[in-house]
This record gives sequence, structure tokens and C-alpha cells, in this order.
Amino acid sequence: MTDTTDYAREYADALRDPEGYWQRIAQRIDWMQPPTQIRDVSFHADDFRIRWYADGVLNASVNCLDRHLPARGDRTALIFEPDDPNGEARHVTYRELHARTCRLANALRNLGVRKGDRITIYLPMIVDAVVAMLACARIGAIHSVVFGGFAPQSIADRIADCRSKLIITADEGMRGGKRIGLKANVDAALALPGTNSVETVLVVRHTGAAVAMQMPRDRWVDAVVAGQPDTCDPEPMNAEDPLFILYTSGSTGKPKGVLHTTGGYMVFASFTHERVFDLREDDIYWCTADVGWITGHSYIVYGPLANGATAVVFEGVPNHPDHSRFWRVIDKHQVTIFYTAPTAIRALMREGDAPVRAASRKSLRLLGTVGEPINPEAWRWYHDVVGDARCPVVDTWWQTETGGILIAPPIGMEAKPGSAMKPFFGVRPALVDADGKELQGEAAGNLVLKDSWPGQMRTVYGDHARFIDTYFRAYPGLYFTGDGCRRDADGDYWITGRVDDVINVSGHRIGTAEVESALVSHAKVAEAAVVGFPHDIKGQGIYAYVTLVAGQAESDALRAELIAHVRHEIGPIATPDHLQWAPGLPKTRSGKIMRRILRKIAEDAPDQLGDTSTLADPSVVDSLVRNRRGA
Ligand code: WT7
Repeated sequence: MTDTTDYAREYADALRDPEGYWQRIAQRIDWMQPPTQIRDVSFHADDFRIRWYADGVLNASVNCLDRHLPARGDRTALIFEPDDPNGEARHVTYRELHARTCRLANALRNLGVRKGDRITIYLPMIVDAVVAMLACARIGAIHSVVFGGFAPQSIADRIADCRSKLIITADEGMRGGKRIGLKANVDAALALPGTNSVETVLVVRHTGAAVAMQMPRDRWVDAVVAGQPDTCDPEPMNAEDPLFILYTSGSTGKPKGVLHTTGGYMVFASFTHERVFDLREDDIYWCTADVGWITGHSYIVYGPLANGATAVVFEGVPNHPDHSRFWRVIDKHQVTIFYTAPTAIRALMREGDAPVRAASRKSLRLLGTVGEPINPEAWRWYHDVVGDARCPVVDTWWQTETGGILIAPPIGMEAKPGSAMKPFFGVRPALVDADGKELQGEAAGNLVLKDSWPGQMRTVYGDHARFIDTYFRAYPGLYFTGDGCRRDADGDYWITGRVDDVINVSGHRIGTAEVESALVSHAKVAEAAVVGFPHDIKGQGIYAYVTLVAGQAESDALRAELIAHVRHEIGPIATPDHLQWAPGLPKTRSGKIMRRILRKIAEDAPDQLGDTSTLADPSVVDSLVRNRRGA
């Protein structure tokens, strides 16, 4: 175990000589041509650049597969645990994963996919999802994984934005015993405008359900890979060539295509995975995230596989067939490192200790959380009950944009419940006030990063100006995270949550603007404003204020219809928890909606509305307060 002075020494080393430090760390990766240029960074808009290892050449799939074949080809790379606990769990070795990846990569090349082409992946949590990502990486195609819970319109938006030419999906997915019609959703998405870039849809046979196949567009994966050789020449990729795009919500407009490149991302994902989780040779590692999110990319696929680890791929949910599923799977596969989200911990905590005690959990060695602030009560339950007070808990703060973990408790340091603790090596967080003045010592403010790290996103796909505007404009020379944060007297960081118009629902980012635009796309809605409010299980819930078109009557039936409409447009994760009729919205004289007031009403804190005198019509507030959810 590293002790705390080791952490302080290495942190100082990385800061003193970032070039030397990151050159050394880069040697953990197999390069076709090792980099000599290590970093080239400026966060200033007029001279902006983020380049790491710029003259290095490598292939991500080679790092996840080929490099392990000589010494550990027969080691299990992935353990697949199906949704149905009575279904067959499958162990996939590195050798088998390599062969499957190569066969699909060859098939993709045969279908005309070339380096730089975009491929959309819409799959359940099955081994084929990992194979699909690695097959893209093998031939230099840029994957865009779309979470299987997103609705056709959201899939279509993501296809249209990056003009992908091929989609990999499955007949159906399984979650908690329910079937999800993935292929049907893709068909519906491809019927929407903007999706005509798609030439081919590859379909994985998963549940075996009969699905409509539209020839020649749709092809079964098993048919296209049949007869393909199980080796495939990897595409040499420059370190700064794109590896993937992943869409994430921001405070305005449509989701942004966060672009990650190859070299820096692979170094950072694998290095943080090893050091934050104290990875050891015999670990069985389980991250419960979905590959549709960045956590799945960095800490199910690229980090663990580059490290030659054994990772669990779980198709199911924590509460099916009962609330002890997680803990039984831990026993079944002898999981040593377990990484999940606070929302799952809170939901399971509510079920009491008995479902946890139904499993021994003796194999566990380390626990992790990610996605949202963890309240100390949930942290303690996770530590004391799930971990029997013998496993360290690492609360890891990071973002889709950061590619990997930036703040987490160093191994060997006692963590404080609710604090993500210390910056990772080479990471330079700071707190600024609203004017951008850096705060020293014990303070609370907006969390920024003063310098780059290799896993940082490089651009918003197709919109570099939006990248700079979103992250580097508010505080010139600094990367703005969008999070509020407190630093205590020991220099430990406590993330307090988003300070922008992003809602964090069960660890998933939802832009208020997206939910609003889904609502106003309904013919009966004139205007909508959406805010987050505190929710016991989800962290934050979605609260929508809706003004109807003149002449439309408010009714419970219409409320249910509008909620269903959002779900249908974006997907279940964006379902409003509460919808309040708003005959008028609080606006300034220039027409800007004052969300601060709507947030306080949603929070049931009408006594904290603050100054409402600048409103165009202050009387709208009274009626909103009277009809609020908490009243
Ligand atoms: C936002 C990023 C990074 C993987 C999952 C979410 C919040 C994330 C923590 C944490 C407090 C956290 C932040 C961040 N967040 N981890 N340990 N403590 N807040 O990725 O969808 O890009 O969301 O999630 O608000 O900005 P994401």
C-alpha cells in the first residue's frame, strides 16, 4: 500500500516536471512509435491547443488485447453475468476477445468502414458491446456509443450530428426481466430526418427475438463475421487521432459530442484505473456502469483491458430478481473491487441490511463510487455494511470531459465520508469565485482545472468554438468544470454539485434545455422551464413548469401525457418527476426566465426566493408558490 507521504511525493514530482512525469507514465502503453513530444497545451482562447504525445503512434485495441496474448492470453478478460440470474455466466479470455474483435474488425473493413468513419453502437451490456468498441478502435473508426435507454429521437440526433455510416445494435436487450426493443428503436430512429448517412445496420442476435430486417441495409453480425480471419492488422493511429465520441448534456442546446483521442486517453484511463483502485494481479473487478456512459468506456473497457485485468460485464439491474443481486454476483464471481453509483447505494440502503447479509462479500477488497456527490450516510452504510468496515471507499470525481478520474482518495489515506479528497497525480484543481479570482486555503467556489491532463477531451465534435465557449470562456486560462466545490482546512475537496443548468439524475446528466425542448415540441405546450430539485434516491429529480397554449385545459390526463411525451422523446432517464402548471413563468423584463426562483419553489423553500422586484410580473410567483409540489 502506498502511504500518504508517497502520495504527496509523487504529486509534487508530477507538478515539478510534468513532461518527465508523463513521459515515464506513457511507457505503460505499447507504442508502435513512442512519443518524444509529450505535452503542448494552452487554455487561452487566442492560442488554444491541447496535445499530448503528439508524435506517438499506437492502436488502442492492441493495448487492450494483443499485448496480453503472449503471457496471459488464457486469462479471463471479461466475465459476462446475464440479466437472468439463472442464465449462463460466460468467461471470455483475452485470446477469445482478440479473435472476436479481429473478426468483427475485418467484417467492418469489408463493409467499407475506414479510419475516421463514425460508427454508432446501440447495444445492451453484453460482451458484443466491448467487441464492437474494440473492433472500431482496431481499424481507426470512431465509435459513438449511445446508451440503450435512449429513445429513437435521441439516437437520431446523435447519428445526425456525427453522420455515422454504420450502426451496431442487437435484436433486444434485457433489463430486470423486461425486453428492450433495440432494433425497433434503431428502425424508428432511421425513419427520422437527418439519419440518411447510415448505410448499414449490424444486428447482434441476443435474445433471439424475431425482428424486422430491411435488406440490404440490415445484416446479422453472426453472418458478416462468419469466415472472417481471427487476426486483423491494426490501424496505426496517431496519439491525437480520435478514438471515440460520446454525447453528453450541457446547460444549453443539444448534447455535445465529447471527443477523446487515442494516446493520452489510453495512458490516463489505464493509469488511473491501476492507481485509484490499487489494482492487483488477482483482482476481479466490477464496475456496474453501462458502456453507454464514460464510466463504462474508461473503467469497464479501455482502462481495465489495457491493464490486463478481469472485469465483470453485468447486463442486469440491482433490484432484479431481488435487492441482493449485486451482493450475490460479488460472491458468485469473487469480486474484489466494486465500483458503483451513490444512487444505487441509496436505493439499496433503503431495503435494509438483510439483502446485503444474504451474501458473504468476503472477496471484496475495495469499494468505489462515482457520478454524483455521495451523502455521508450512504457512504457509511456502503463502508460499514457492504464492506464490513474492512474495505476502503474511493469516491471518484470526474466527468465525461475529463476521460478519467481527477479527484479521489489516495490509497492508504483515510477518506472522509462525502469527500473525493485529493487530486490525482498531475491534476491541478483550484476554486474561483464568480469573478474568476482564485480562492486560497479553506474555501468554497467554482471548481476549475489550471492545467491539462492526458485524458482531457480535445473538442466538441464538429464545433470547436462551442468547446472553447463552454469550458474556457468563463474563466480565461482555466478549464471550468460546471461544478461547485468546497476545500477544507486539510486541502480535501468536497464536490457540491452542478452550478449550471445541468441536472444530475441518478448520476446521469440531463440538460434542462433538452427536457424543455421535448416539452415544447408537444402541440399543447406554449412554454416550459425545467429545474432540478433534491431527491432522496436519485440525488436530483426533474421538476417541470409548463405553460399551455391558450385555450388548452390543465388536467391530470394531460400532465401524464406530457410526462410520457418527454420519456418518449428522450428516454426514461429524462422522465419528469413532477410537472406543475404555470399560467406564467417568472421572467425579467428582458424575458429571461429566473430559474433561481423556480429552483427554490421546486425545493419547497418559498421563503428563500430572494429579490423578485426585477420580474416583469412579480404576481406570477405567488400562484406558482401556492401550487407547488410541497404545498
Ligand atoms: C458530473 C459529470 C464521471 C462519470 C460519471 C458522470 C458529477 C461525478 C462525482 C463525484 C460528486 C460527481 C459532477 C460532474 N460527479 N462524479 N464523485 N462526486 N459529483 O459523468 O455524466 O459526465 O457527469 O457528475 O457534477 O460534473 P458525467
